[in-house]
Amino acid sequence: MEEKKSFLKEKIDHKSPNKNIVPITTSIGSDGKLSIGGCSIEELVKKYDSPLYILDEITLRNSCKAYKKALKEYYPGESLPIYASKANSSVLMSNLVSSEGFGLDAVSEGELLTALKGGVPNEKIVFHGNNKSTKEIEFAVRNNIKVIVDNDYDLERLEVLSNSLNRDLEIMIRFTPGIECHTHEYIRTGSFDSKFGFGIEYLNTLFDKISNFKYLKLKGLHAHIGSQIFELEPHKDLGEIMVNVILDAKKFGHDIKKLNVGGGLGIKYTENDDPPSIEEWVKTISASVVKACKKHNLDLPTLMCEPGRSIVSTAGITVYKIGAFKKIPGIRTYLSVDGGMSDNPRPITYQSNYSACLVSNPLNINSKNKYTIAGKHCESGDVLFKEIELADCKTGDLICVFGTGAYNNSMSSNYNRIPRPATVLVSDGESEVIQMRESPLDLLKYDVLPNRFIKQN
Ligand code: LLP
Repeated sequence: MEEKKSFLKEKIDHKSPNKNIVPITTSIGSDGKLSIGGCSIEELVKKYDSPLYILDEITLRNSCKAYKKALKEYYPGESLPIYASKANSSVLMSNLVSSEGFGLDAVSEGELLTALKGGVPNEKIVFHGNNKSTKEIEFAVRNNIKVIVDNDYDLERLEVLSNSLNRDLEIMIRFTPGIECHTHEYIRTGSFDSKFGFGIEYLNTLFDKISNFKYLKLKGLHAHIGSQIFELEPHKDLGEIMVNVILDAKKFGHDIKKLNVGGGLGIKYTENDDPPSIEEWVKTISASVVKACKKHNLDLPTLMCEPGRSIVSTAGITVYKIGAFKKIPGIRTYLSVDGGMSDNPRPITYQSNYSACLVSNPLNINSKNKYTIAGKHCESGDVLFKEIELADCKTGDLICVFGTGAYNNSMSSNYNRIPRPATVLVSDGESEVIQMRESPLDLLKYDVLPNRFIKQN
């Protein structure tokens, strides 16, 4: 029997889950089959059907703890990590991150409601967005949730609102620091072409404008430079730039107490990825803010950061069942699964790469076949893996895709009227549904057939 090199044999980093491909509780039983959180994947699929999203509680909690611990260790001032809920929003996720001492970043009324329902304290929620509706802004203010002002339109409406309420409103502003990150390189530019936030060159005008408002109190700055970033340098630069902006704001009488440096730390999707650890990331940004504040004799602001992917991605896997095979001689063999671009739009959207294995033969013993793993949607580009090496497999076998906790469920769709999978949380041999599987009938709930059409038929 030939045993191939496998990512499942890599040593697990328990402290920084983003450095692993698999959830930290992943194990292979004496029967050679895969389990997560002490639960056999095969049994989970028997119980909950497929496709299935699975989240590992220990991996989630370890990621949160790593941020909290590093902030405590490397940042001598106050700090508050907040979870970017766009990565994976649910009542359970809100509740879990909150129980680990995190706040939460929301970008819509839906995410705000989910956070509140999950028990995140209002004062630990921030509300982002480049085109917030007036209803959303009013909802946030009524609930004492801090609004991150993205543009003049936000500002105008908040000013009107604060006047009508006759009370002070604390705000933060988002700006684009002129750091542009791509996944493996970054450039600094004078102005940053982005739909989010105020241009850095406009800030003095903005500070002047805000200082004339009666009730709006500028207390914080926010910047986010990108996602799935592997370098530390951009965040080091960001710390310095943000402290310089505190100094600029001071000239206009604003006392900035909070610095929110956004998210962006990358995770390991495949063996080619090598992201820094959570500790290294926090250490870098903390050191840069502390150094710049010391240099300018400034009190340390409360340091906030907004990780999304590095909290939830590695904790999540998706399990699919294999259906049809199509062999095109001399070209490729397609293997189709019971999900695809509706539950994971990242491969078709960003050409993202993942790692996967067979649940019944995770170490790929006797692997000799190359497959293209296709989804079941009516779209030729619905391909999850262009080419993957797997051991012999057949219809009915299960495939596990790793690193799907972030930006899968939250970006899922019902293309082809395919219902979303259930999500189960696993821990200590127990599994619990945290999001129910949709049914095709659920998807008809919002369709309306006007009466005159009913008569016609
Ligand atoms: N804060 C703000 C303001 C953000 O816009 C984002 C992500 C985060 C925090 C969290 O960033 P993270 O730690 O997750 O990198 N759909 C894309 C990712 C979009 C990220 C959008 N903003 C993907 O699937 O890769």
